[in-house]
Amino acid sequence: MTTAAQMRGRTALVTGASGGIGRAIAERLGDHGADVVLVGRNEAALEDAAAVVRTRGGTARVVALDLADPAAPRKLVEQVGEVELLLNNAGVATGGAVVDTDPAELRAMLDLNVSALTELTALLLPRMVERGHGSVLNVASVGGYLPSPGLAVYAASKTYVLAVSRALWAEVRGRGVRVVAVSPGATRTAMNPRGTRTAEQVATTALAALAGTAPAVIDGRLNAVVGRVFEALPGRVAAPLAGWVLARSG
Ligand SMILES: NC(=O)c1ccc[n+]([C@@H]2O[C@H](COP(=O)([O-])OP(=O)(O)OC[C@H]3O[C@@H](n4cnc5c(N)ncnc54)[C@H](OP(=O)(O)O)[C@@H]3O)[C@@H](O)[C@H]2O)c1
Repeated sequence: MTTAAQMRGRTALVTGASGGIGRAIAERLGDHGADVVLVGRNEAALEDAAAVVRTRGGTARVVALDLADPAAPRKLVEQVGEVELLLNNAGVATGGAVVDTDPAELRAMLDLNVSALTELTALLLPRMVERGHGSVLNVASVGGYLPSPGLAVYAASKTYVLAVSRALWAEVRGRGVRVVAVSPGATRTAMNPRGTRTAEQVATTALAALAGTAPAVIDGRLNAVVGRVFEALPGRVAAPLAGWVLARSG
């Protein structure tokens, strides 16, 4: 496993680093002197974040691409090479009832939230295991702990992130490599302007999780209670209850 404190001069690939949680984590890695590769579609916003990483003591490179493009993960890895830390953070949240949603939008969300994360991990994890050090940090969601009417496919994409992270955690455990899922709850970013936690709080939780041993960590005490309680409930209780809570929380 590689912690944030061990990242000086080592490469961290951060997807979705142009804003929100990804940018907050990238900046924090700058404090640790990491060589940060910032990925997203908005090049100007990535350059802006990269400048902050440099002022905070890191080095920074920008790769602007659309990770929902099936060719993108391989292209990205060819360009970047080996990394010490992979931070799979880029995600979108298409909401609303599935019956009212364009299926193409759902596919695009799954291409990013599920497929890009999986392929980047599968491309970069083998070298970490060969070397005997490295970390993969996947950003899931408290929504991944519950069936979420109104956010059904988004939440399910995060259930996938959680499940695959937990299984990979066990696959690589004891081989010097750590895989961990970090689940934010409602966090104030472009995705969720009404969120109550800050991206900086999530960044603190995420980087602390690298030094821990758990396969999955939830940001914020209340979020942790919600996640654990819903995970323990039977689906026929959890889904309507989650729908009721989500409808009232906007
Ligand atoms: N905010 C919350 O309440 C909350 C709660 C739970 C989980 N999360 C998760 O936290 C992660 C970060 O979200 P956030 O809240 O920080 O949202 P955000 O501010 O909207 O940031 C999303 C990031 O993903 C990037 N991205 C989106 N589509 C992309 C694509 N097709 N290719 C490459 N990059 C793409 C965006 O960059 P570009 O626009 O430059 O492409 C941006 O940097 C997501 O996985 C999200 O599901 C957020």
